[in-house]
Amino acid sequence: MLVIVVFGSLTGEFLSAHGLLPGEIWFWLGNQGSEYLDLGRFWQYLLIAGFFFWLWLLFRALRPAFSNPKLKEFSILFFLAAAAIPIFYVPAVFYHHQTNFTIIDTWRFWIIHLWVEGFFEVFATVLTATIFVQMGVTKLITAKRVIYLDIILYLGAGVVGTGHHWYFTGQTSVNMALSACFSAMEVVPLTLLTLDAWDFIRVSSLRCEECGRFLAARQKWTIYYLIAVGMWNFIGAGMFGFLINLPIISYFEVGTNLTQNHSHAAMFGVFGMLALAVTMFCMRAMQTEKIWEKTKNLVKIGFWGLNIGMGLMVIVDLFPSGVLQLWDSIANGYWHARHLNFIMSGFFHTLEWIRLGADAVFIVVGVIPTVSAIFITYKDGFYTHLEKNKIAEY
Ligand code: HEM
Ligand SMILES: [Fe+2]
Repeated sequence: MLVIVVFGSLTGEFLSAHGLLPGEIWFWLGNQGSEYLDLGRFWQYLLIAGFFFWLWLLFRALRPAFSNPKLKEFSILFFLAAAAIPIFYVPAVFYHHQTNFTIIDTWRFWIIHLWVEGFFEVFATVLTATIFVQMGVTKLITAKRVIYLDIILYLGAGVVGTGHHWYFTGQTSVNMALSACFSAMEVVPLTLLTLDAWDFIRVSSLRCEECGRFLAARQKWTIYYLIAVGMWNFIGAGMFGFLINLPIISYFEVGTNLTQNHSHAAMFGVFGMLALAVTMFCMRAMQTEKIWEKTKNLVKIGFWGLNIGMGLMVIVDLFPSGVLQLWDSIANGYWHARHLNFIMSGFFHTLEWIRLGADAVFIVVGVIPTVSAIFITYKDGFYTHLEKNKIAEY
């Protein structure tokens, strides 16, 4: 379903951009024009169906845990955190292309903001807690306490904070006042995360009291990716998000490179790294030691390539060019700072060329080794599985 939605919607968007979809077909199969929710309505329905299918698969796998008194509360928390993700995508179909822009953008950020600054963060916490409980380095009761605390902190600030995307979309000034205050408070849990990251470093060197071996040695890179999640959450979401959060700054800045600076560092930095943490966890669980020997250097190089590449993108281009654009917006007007003449010339444009180097590090040193490690594990893991079956047959 994912493949159909991704390639189907991309084809539709391409045709739509070239004006090849007549009548209202552009709305159903092409490009709706709202950033992040641009895929045609038909693809959105398919995506929703896929999401709920995923939720049902999760439910099926978790059902035995629901009736286990020790795991009941924890597994329900896991399920609820997961369920919020598909449920909060449904507003994507609450409007039509002729609906008032204020209403369209209200629903749009219900999804984008409540996902990334609310439910994804909660899901990330639950997932991290689950991984640590599985590894045997955290007690169940501690994990549950952290989850409840995070739910209170993230949702307490993040839900009202949604309005920081509605400052200038035709909403009231009450919205501006409330959401500016509440979203500023989102930085509190993100700062606490740096303490988490510090604890994770300690976890990676924790020894078993009886046998003396390192408890988490096998999952070292999962922990490293989780440390990266904590670090980017603080820098990308906390610092760079806060930087553009005040209405007076947003007024000059909205939609410039400082937004991209924040959204790249937060989106890939937090949820990209989290996806990779889970990938590493599963990969290590299905690998034999022999396959691990083949892939361990690739995983290590990939980790540093992705993080350094991401850091360079921010340092050499996104942040400085964002500051340049904001400066231009204040000096010459917003229209000037977003005009092609500004974007395609001068130092702003030079920085974009320099960024090619950072992107190359990200792809060549980060993406390629990581994908190769996953591919090798899949290929060899598959054969090992066959061999195991053979052994069982004998
Ligand atoms: C991991 C967490 C986060 C992620 C993944 C994330 C992602 C994003 C993305 C993708 C956008 C661009 C939206 C668009 O282009 O229309 C955005 C915009 C924005 N974010 Fe975040 N964000 C996160 C956390 C935060 C936090 C904690 C704050 C504030 C304290 C914040 C404040 C903002 C503001 C004010 C904008 C609007 C900028 C604009 O429209 O130009 N974000 N965020
Ligand atoms: Fe937001």
